[in-house]
Amino acid sequence: MELRGKNCIVTGSGRGIGRAIALSLARDGAFVVVNGRKREDEAKETLRLVRDAGGDGTLVMADVSTRDGCRKVVDAVPGILHVLVNNAGLGLYSPFRDLKDEAIVRQVNVNFLSALYCTQEALAKMREGVVVNLSSITGLMPSPGLSVYGAMKAALISLTKTLAVELAPIRVNAVAPGVVSTKMGESLLDILGEGWERRNTLTGRVVDPEEVADAVKFLIRNDSITGEVLTLDGGTTLVGRLTRGERP
Ligand SMILES: NC(=O)c1ccc[n+]([C@@H]2O[C@H](COP(=O)([O-])OP(=O)(O)OC[C@H]3O[C@@H](n4cnc5c(N)ncnc54)[C@H](OP(=O)(O)O)[C@@H]3O)[C@@H](O)[C@H]2O)c1
Repeated sequence: MELRGKNCIVTGSGRGIGRAIALSLARDGAFVVVNGRKREDEAKETLRLVRDAGGDGTLVMADVSTRDGCRKVVDAVPGILHVLVNNAGLGLYSPFRDLKDEAIVRQVNVNFLSALYCTQEALAKMREGVVVNLSSITGLMPSPGLSVYGAMKAALISLTKTLAVELAPIRVNAVAPGVVSTKMGESLLDILGEGWERRNTLTGRVVDPEEVADAVKFLIRNDSITGEVLTLDGGTTLVGRLTRGERP
């Protein structure tokens, strides 16, 4: 798929991975619906950068963990929707036994229901095209302290494979990054402790948001890939643990 003039949605694109994806699509000439929930200043900055990068777009501040929020985002698409990137996510670190209902429900809603609702709402405007879900290696390996987050990221992988079959010819893919240098990734690194990346990757460093954006664009552009989960984690799922020190 060529992206020039194509309509794209990137949920949660005020900063971090979502912003990197929005800019990457904009550099190829796409129209991007930028979305954030709280930080309008960050989302406005993403839209400015999208325009500077040679794309165009619009901004919708909406909570995509609700169906109404997803509907608002989809309504902003001028005509046919070609690309939906379900990127918005929230990780609340807590031991399983201490998890409170509010943290459980928010993580289910932001990490899983957002992708489910936005994909359903998007179908009204999609003929062919691509959906990419932001999963995580926490959906593939034990992630102590991130039980609900990881379970929802695993659920996204299941949803990706089933929807690839059910929604064809729309293609549905996912990426599963390791620890990425964003606000969310930095808070996780604070918990995992100094030098985690040296002990738990083969590359000796965390993943850049731009590397995730490259992977997402690859999955969008290659018309033969559907139902696929692309892991980019510097080898953490091969040799590492998502824990502080040697043992959980
Ligand atoms: N960073 C990592 O290490 C890592 C690794 C694997 C996977 N991921 C996944 O990659 C995605 C992006 O993560 P990130 O690291 O870029 O996170 P981030 O730096 O915390 O940015 C998250 C973005 O999503 C927006 N957002 C959060 N909840 C939202 C909601 N309900 N409705 C609309 N927008 C919402 C935030 O905007 P507001 O502040 O305005 O709400 C912000 O712009 C997430 O799905 C995350 O789970 C991250």
